[in-house]
Amino acid sequence: MKEYKIAVLPGDGIGPEIVPEAIKVLDKVGEMYGLSFSYEEGYIGGAAIDAVGEPLPQETLDLCKKSDAILLGAVGGPKWDNLPVEKRPEAGALLPLRKALGLYANIRPSVVYEELADASTLKKEVVLGTDLLTIRELTGGIYFGAKYRSEDERGSFAVDENKYYVDEIERICRLAFKIARTRGNKVTSVDKANVLETSRLWRETVVALHDKEFKDVELEHLYVDNAAMQLILRPTSFDVMVTENMFGDILTDQASVMTGSIGMLGSASIGGEVALYEPAHGSAPDIAGQGKANPLATILSVAMMLKYSFEELKAAARIEAAVKKVLASGYRTPDIMEEGKTLVSTSEVGDLVVKAL
Ligand code: IPM
Ligand code: MG
Repeated sequence: MKEYKIAVLPGDGIGPEIVPEAIKVLDKVGEMYGLSFSYEEGYIGGAAIDAVGEPLPQETLDLCKKSDAILLGAVGGPKWDNLPVEKRPEAGALLPLRKALGLYANIRPSVVYEELADASTLKKEVVLGTDLLTIRELTGGIYFGAKYRSEDERGSFAVDENKYYVDEIERICRLAFKIARTRGNKVTSVDKANVLETSRLWRETVVALHDKEFKDVELEHLYVDNAAMQLILRPTSFDVMVTENMFGDILTDQASVMTGSIGMLGSASIGGEVALYEPAHGSAPDIAGQGKANPLATILSVAMMLKYSFEELKAAARIEAAVKKVLASGYRTPDIMEEGKTLVSTSEVGDLVVKAL
């Protein structure tokens, strides 16, 4: 029996409701595939501020470092929005956690489920068949560059430095090419090389890497503004998209919601000793505590955990199939509800997925 230690960080808002549903599912596939999971909970985000006065306690970081994988719910909420930036759940917990664990690659799938294609704001015939994987650089660029305010003769100003090393660009693009080889064999690299020096370095680096190691993979370049447009014009033509931290932040919101509901998409942050899995959506404080949250993104995140951290591809595929089955049987949380379907609660969805397994 293989044993895995999972650090569980439920966080804020709907986090504590969706995480237990994913654990139900993990336990069930564990039984089926001879895997045993043990869980240890840690505080993060607003919950950590309330409990111990800081958003990312050292204890939580230590727990993450000694675990085989991390399952995170969501962080943030209006209660903590007015704290100084280093105390805020997002900038004070998520970003330092990514940096401290060396999670340089964020992988976010945008898959359109046939059963949900009508829920998209885009026309069904445009989105149907979309299966895009965005690989976002997660520990460099403008998010982590020097930030400061100062003053000169003209007045006060603010600076956010955007800096990329060649080796940072190479490692994320190498990952993108490798993953593309396991799927549609195409990489779209997104930059703003017509304006930004970091983007010119990005493009040179990706082209050189492609020439040297990945000639067999199709490589396309798009400027980020055009990429935003092409994403809604021809989403099905994308396979793997790779881009820098901030462009990736923006494009993955767009790429995820156009599939119908952001409540359906998981994500993996990898690259360090231990990887982190979380739904692509936020803490949704407006619906917290009401059993309305869609746990499928978190459930699909544990499928990604099985795939990327434990190489249990069959177990991962089994979860994905169970999720499809639940949707095909007509069960829906409010975010994806349509006429003629059966409305169910957060925990009912978890039970249904377990049953489908
Ligand atoms: C994300 C989020 C974070 C980011 C925020 C909460 C700091 O938007 O994971 O995409 O910008 O990376
Ligand atoms: Mg974001």
